[in-house]
Amino acid sequence: MEKKVTVVGAGNVGATAAQRLAEKELCDVVLIDIIEGVPQGKALDLSEAAPIEKHDAHLVGSNDYEASAGSDIVIITAGIPRKPGMSRDDLISTNAGIIKSVTQQIVKYSPDTILIIVSNPLDAMCHVAYETSGFPKNRVMGMAGVLDSARFRAFISMELNVSVENTHAFVLGGHGDTMVPLPRYSTVAGIPITELMPKERIDALVERTANGGAEIVSLLKTGSAYYAPSAAAVEMAEAILKDKKKILPCAAYLEGEYGINDLFIGVPVKLGSKGIEQIIEIELTADEKAKLLKSAEAVQGLKDTLKRLGV
Ligand code: NAI
Ligand code: 2OP
Repeated sequence: MEKKVTVVGAGNVGATAAQRLAEKELCDVVLIDIIEGVPQGKALDLSEAAPIEKHDAHLVGSNDYEASAGSDIVIITAGIPRKPGMSRDDLISTNAGIIKSVTQQIVKYSPDTILIIVSNPLDAMCHVAYETSGFPKNRVMGMAGVLDSARFRAFISMELNVSVENTHAFVLGGHGDTMVPLPRYSTVAGIPITELMPKERIDALVERTANGGAEIVSLLKTGSAYYAPSAAAVEMAEAILKDKKKILPCAAYLEGEYGINDLFIGVPVKLGSKGIEQIIEIELTADEKAKLLKSAEAVQGLKDTLKRLGV
């Protein structure tokens, strides 16, 4: 393939993202993980599915970042989930250390790449990758809004018994309890959902969206969601690889937009071959703006924690 994408972290999200990239024939894929044998085994398994799935993407697994050299995009999913007895600070500090070392290795072999961060806590990990890489802001972004919006769309489709293809939704803000689903900008075949269902049903869907990650964790018990997250990361990668100029909600570094400065937070952006080519500022009501600023405060809290921990 003409394009090359590296996925770091060959766990649930990473391996499924590699599968989606290959099966859509978007690029060759390099899968990297710290555990010996796992990226090699998963890449080989996926290569052996290629004749059946009818694609010619090459997949390679490695523990060595040299294999990632010259990647057009790197999707970072490496990290640990929170375990019993661990504080939020423990998770931030462990994953920040992982993102820092992964980013250093990636930059060494792919200085011109575009980074899509997936690891949690998402908005804080974007900061670590941004500061470690020294990349311009258009080449560092986080995946959360596409996933959260897809969850909202799925719930709208279930509620109204309409095709998911007719749905459109925007969820902005940080990837956490304070995320901001925007019903006014969420539509079915162009009709705002505010005209299609009563406020209490919209409120219920908004709440389910904000708890979407926790709902899956409570069902799976041993891990978190990965089918929808990998699909979301690959939608972003596809928009960049194909220079689609697609508007998607992504965690982007803001410098004054929406009244927010020096923070990564979910906003609508235009994705093309240069990465984030434009931050789109949509009109928000006073209430929506207040919710976005509250979400920004929560992200600022995570950033302060990083500083306190010296990461
Ligand atoms: P997982 O545990 O299945 O996979 C993580 C992989 O990272 C493991 O294979 C592990 O060996 C690898 N890893 C750990 N340290 C590494 C290092 N230093 N270098 C390379 N690889 C390393 O976890 P899963 O489910 O794939 O989730 C990955 C991350 O993505 C988690 O932090 C999770 O919270 C986050 N996530 C974020 C979402 C979002 O919306 N932004 C959605 C879903 C997951
Ligand atoms: C999710 O929203 C765990 O962040 C992950 O599913």
